[in-house]
Amino acid sequence: MTASSLPAAGASRAPVGRLRRFWDSSVGKKVVMAVTGLGGIGFVVAHMAGNLQMFVPGTPAQAMHEYALGLRKLGPLLWVARAGLVVMVVLHATAALQLIARNRAARPVPYSRRVGQVSTLGAKTMRAGGILLALFVVFHILDMTLGVGHPQFVHLDPYNNLRLGFQRWWAVLFYVVAVIFLGLHLFHGAWASWRTLGLRRASDRPLHRNIAIALALFVTLGFLAVPVAAALGIFEPQTVVMDAAHTPEAAQ
Ligand code: HEM
Repeated sequence: MTASSLPAAGASRAPVGRLRRFWDSSVGKKVVMAVTGLGGIGFVVAHMAGNLQMFVPGTPAQAMHEYALGLRKLGPLLWVARAGLVVMVVLHATAALQLIARNRAARPVPYSRRVGQVSTLGAKTMRAGGILLALFVVFHILDMTLGVGHPQFVHLDPYNNLRLGFQRWWAVLFYVVAVIFLGLHLFHGAWASWRTLGLRRASDRPLHRNIAIALALFVTLGFLAVPVAAALGIFEPQTVVMDAAHTPEAAQ
């Protein structure tokens, strides 16, 4: 058998090679950042909408409990979604760090003056904001999903966990600061990803800039509502009927 008679093996490696070349290119990393960033936006919008059930009239504690239980009832699908979220965050952060390193290596001496760049607070806080958000998410999962360090955590009672958790002033402050950084990160990220994916040319006053602002404001205000309302004492104590608390799903 000659070397030229082995196209099948080469063909099976080709997609992997193409993927590798795509990931190694700066454009490939930016596309990965854009796509995973858009996935992240989908998650935060859904999460924020779920949190607003805290304001459901009548029995918000029960609504939040059933929402949390409903997620657990997804069973393996919930774990697939969680794994997908972790993969997205890891890809997003790895591509960002590699692009930063690449840019630094290409220009060890910084520009004395940058002309023609649209620099917003969002753009300037991308790195610090990204790191703060990563730390926030670790704290937040320990606090609200696992109850580590929470003063009175009850599994599958998110209403009262949030109500009591936000009686700690420093936790309210951390959430508020993290959510403001999330808004800035989203604003710049939503705007930049639009350009990376080639949906629009760079410009300082395009329509999608307003869409990015609206999205960032919507998510920021929606997320701020719960810690701020809790700090103001708006949420009354409520009891949850939790007959499903000891099912296997409840242990996830
Ligand atoms: C500031 C307002 C927020 C509130 C009130 C809130 C509330 C909650 C609650 C109650 C849980 C536990 C749900 C459960 O165990 O069923 C949770 C989980 C979670 N939150 Fe938030 N959250 C907020 C902001 C955020 C932000 C800004 C992010 C990410 C950028 C985020 C990411 C997550 C993640 C990844 C989980 C774990 C989900 C899982 O267990 O699969 N949250 N959140």
